[in-house]
Amino acid sequence: MNALFKLQVALCFVILIVNIEGERIRRVSNDTRKLVELFGLANGQSKREADLDHNKRPINLVVLAPENDSLPYALHKILPSIQYAVKSVQDQGILGDRAIKVYARDTKCSSTYGPLAAFNMYYNKLVDVFLGPLCPYALAPVARYTAVWQIPILSAGGQIDSFDYKAKYYSLLTRMNGSYSQIGHIFQEVLLNFSWRIVAFLYHNFQDRSRGKSNCAFTLGAVSHALNKKDYHERDFDETLSEVPYHNLLQDVSKHAR
Ligand SMILES: *[C@@H]1O[C@H](CO)[C@@H](O)[C@H](O)[C@H]1NC(C)=O
Ligand SMILES: *[C@@H]1O[C@H](CO)[C@@H](O)[C@H](O)[C@H]1NC(C)=O
Ligand SMILES: *[C@@H]1O[C@H](CO)[C@@H](O)[C@H](O)[C@H]1NC(C)=O
Ligand SMILES: *[C@@H]1O[C@H](CO)[C@@H](O)[C@H](O)[C@H]1NC(C)=O
Repeated sequence: MNALFKLQVALCFVILIVNIEGERIRRVSNDTRKLVELFGLANGQSKREADLDHNKRPINLVVLAPENDSLPYALHKILPSIQYAVKSVQDQGILGDRAIKVYARDTKCSSTYGPLAAFNMYYNKLVDVFLGPLCPYALAPVARYTAVWQIPILSAGGQIDSFDYKAKYYSLLTRMNGSYSQIGHIFQEVLLNFSWRIVAFLYHNFQDRSRGKSNCAFTLGAVSHALNKKDYHERDFDETLSEVPYHNLLQDVSKHAR
């Protein structure tokens, strides 16, 4: 099982426990407390939660991911690690007799169906924390709503640098796998270190714009922001097409880079 994902799930529980059981805050480590302060959760429970019986109510995890197995992070690939984490938390007795319910909803990796699934769970008062979505176009709207709903959201996605605007739009989003802007900084350092100034980007992007940008485009987007100027050469191609003129692309790029 992916270690990073396990960590994500474990961390998720740390946050979840302190969020829902304010009275336990004193018993958790200082590191966790810092984390809690970071998430602005330390000031007790939200009104919605206070309305309910705190010691008996089950804790609801809502997992938002695509059901289609051909997509990365499909539900059946990620649910076992979440079930495993739930079982470890219950076995350790951290929550006493409190039940943890895991709900899984199909986002279809879509900016329409992902948010609809989130809305549905929210209005039925069935969510204390969201795990996912992971697809960027589904994650962005859901993460913005959770800031208003005051519900924490954790995702292994969200590396795109627009998610860096945490205070303004994504205050309760925790990204478990970094941000592409970090790649931008590394890139910048490498250029400086070798005194390289002539830069060309050659990357995969979908020709069918309805599919949104590729991860390569998003990654280099963050790099171009870090470079902070537009004096680089740029060519994209769609690697999903049957014929890509790689030879010509490389020849072209060789004239614009070193
Ligand atoms: C936790 O933090 C408090 C105050 O910030 C400090 O007094 C205490 O020594 C810390 N405890 C540990 C175990 O670090
Ligand atoms: C699953 O995703 C693949 C690739 O994106 C697509 O070709 C296929 O039609 C999808 N299957 C369903 C049932 O949506
Ligand atoms: C984390 O991000 C890297 C780079 O984008 C990616 O290759 C890797 O699969 C991601 N890992 C997880 C667990 O999301
Ligand atoms: C480049 O990186 C090397 C290895 O980390 C380091 O020793 C060197 O000082 C760096 N040079 C500059 C100009 O930053």
